[in-house]
Formats: sequence, C-alpha cells, structure tokens
Amino acid sequence: MSSLQRVAHVGASGFIGTAVLHALLDNNLDVTVLARKDSESKFPGHVKVVRIDFSDRSSLVESLRGYDAVVSKVGVRAINSQYEMIDAAVEAGVKRFIPSEYGCDITISKTANLPAYKERLDIKNYLQSKAETPETGFSYTTISTSILVEAVVGGPLPDIQPRARTATIYDGGDVPVSMTPASLVGEAVAAVLQHPEQTRNRSVLIHGGAFTQNQFLSIVQRCVGADGWQVNRQDTSEMEERSWKAYEKTPKDVLSWLPGFVRLGLFGKGYGGDFTGRTANEELGLKTISLRDLDALIERLVSS
Ligand SMILES: NC(=O)c1ccc[n+]([C@@H]2O[C@H](COP(=O)([O-])OP(=O)(O)OC[C@H]3O[C@@H](n4cnc5c(N)ncnc54)[C@H](OP(=O)(O)O)[C@@H]3O)[C@@H](O)[C@H]2O)c1
Repeated sequence: MSSLQRVAHVGASGFIGTAVLHALLDNNLDVTVLARKDSESKFPGHVKVVRIDFSDRSSLVESLRGYDAVVSKVGVRAINSQYEMIDAAVEAGVKRFIPSEYGCDITISKTANLPAYKERLDIKNYLQSKAETPETGFSYTTISTSILVEAVVGGPLPDIQPRARTATIYDGGDVPVSMTPASLVGEAVAAVLQHPEQTRNRSVLIHGGAFTQNQFLSIVQRCVGADGWQVNRQDTSEMEERSWKAYEKTPKDVLSWLPGFVRLGLFGKGYGGDFTGRTANEELGLKTISLRDLDALIERLVSS
C-alpha cells in the first residue's frame, strides 16, 4: 500500500486538530477538513473545508468517498460520535481510520480499563472488528502521545499555571512521564499515513521524551520567577480512591472523575505513563526532544 495521500480531517479546529492540520499540509498530504455544518470554526483561506451534517449517514458516506484516510481529532465529549464515522468510512471504501486518541497508553489494560479511557477502548475494539473483514480493505491505527507540553502550561490539563503561579505535583514530582510537543503529534499522524503497512491495524506510541514534573516546574519557574508559587502536592493513590468514589456516586458528572483518572493514567504507578523503550519514534523517523528543547519550548509558551 502506498502513502495514504487523500485525507479527510475531522475535528481540525480543535486544540490538537489545529497543530495536526498544519503538519499534514506541510507534509504535502491532500487534506480536506470535514467540519460540522452548524460549527463556527474558521480555517485559513488555503484550507479545503467541507461542512456537513454528521448525523446524515448518506451525506457522510458521500463526503468520505475517494479518501484514503479519515483522521479524527474530535474532543472528549464526541468520542462516541466516531461510530457513525467509522461505519460511513467502511461504506465509502476509506482504507485507514485514525481515531481521536492522543493520550495515555491504552495497550496497558490497567489504563484502558479506567473509566476515562473506556469509550476509547470500545472504539479501538470496534475498529479492530471492522478491520477483520479483509475484503473491505479497511484498517486502523491508534496513536498515543501521552501528555502534550502545551496542555500542561495553562492548557486543558492545567497542572502548571505560570500566570497564577500554581502547580499540582503528583507523587513527589520525580516520576518520569512521556511528554510530547503538539507539533510532534502532527508529524506522527503524517508519518503514520506515510508508512501505511508498518502502522496497519496497530497502536502506535510516540513521545517527545520522558521528563519529570519537577524538571518541568523548575523550567517554568526560571522563566517567570520562583517566588510566590503555591504548590499543591498530591498522592496518586489517594486520587485513585477519590476518582473511583466520584465515578460510582455521579457517573454522569464527568468532570468529577475524569481529570483524576487522566492524571492517574499519566503519573500513577503501573499505568505506563513513561513510554521510553516502547515508542515508534525511531521506526517512523520522528525526533525526540532533549531537556534543552523542552526548556526552549516552555520558554516560548510562557512568553506568548
Ligand atoms: N495528550 C494531551 O495532552 C491531550 C490534550 C488535549 C486533548 N487531547 C485529546 O485530543 C483529542 C482532541 O481533543 P481537543 O481538545 O483537541 O478537541 P476539542 O478542541 O474539544 O474539539 C475538536 C473538534 O472536534 C469537532 N467536533 C466536536 N464535536 C464533534 C462531533 N460530534 N462530530 C464531529 N466533529 C466534532 C469540532 O470541530 P468543528 O467545530 O470544526 O466541527 C471541534 O473543534 C481528544 O481525544 C482529547 O482527549 C489530548
């Protein structure tokens, strides 16, 4: 199978989707953004955008015809909307589906069984079942990236807030955890599309490198000053207990348990938060970053 060149990109206006869109275009892939009809998302003039009603099956199938791959970056609340996209992709003859993942390592069952990842595991199993029918030519790849550097510094996982000078540090802060710059996520998606055979029907782990929260915090403090910080220290085993209690009591109140489980998948013992030795960086030609690179990236983020 040659490179998966024609790409339909769903969720391209989001936090991660924007970075991925740039990387796909920079890698000369033929990308069309599929955005929701009623969405107010905006894209640069040179980007091809088709606005569709994702709940209209026949229009979804027609919109996906002729594409080699669907790259989904839908947000956490829309993970289950991917079932219709997968069915439509199979019907339209799409060869590869990359679902919205980009988080912890769900190849580790302890992690995959956390309520935060259950929907994603179900999506992966569904993709696997569809890919088992060889006549369709359908296949999938999931990409785990662990935590994004941009998500930590004031982003959607705001454990270190340079402006407010607050930080939450887990288990003493010396646990190495994989971290990835958003630009590398985009490069990883492009590399998967350019290496279709190697990445067929499997989970791919990539990272920038493994760093500790204390290393991260000391870089941020060097950038903005070390005075006046309020550092909240948490134990992941207590967080695990609290999150399960919240989940059992109010499963519908996602915000009461999801952030705790996500942190557990990243920092908790035995959840595989450090991808070192298990990544596909080398085989896909993806660079890792040094502590110095992390320092330069954080400095840019803090000053912007
Ligand atoms: N590793 C990390 O640190 C990290 C951090 C953040 C997110 N993530 C993961 O990255 C993925 C994307 O998250 P995000 O925060 O970037 O997403 P997001 O900003 O919340 O949303 C992404 C886009 O999805 C589209 N969308 C939303 N609902 C949809 C639906 N029902 N059908 C079709 N499209 C829909 C929207 O695009 P339109 O309005 O243009 O249609 C939206 O802009 C998720 O899996 C998330 O868990 C990982």
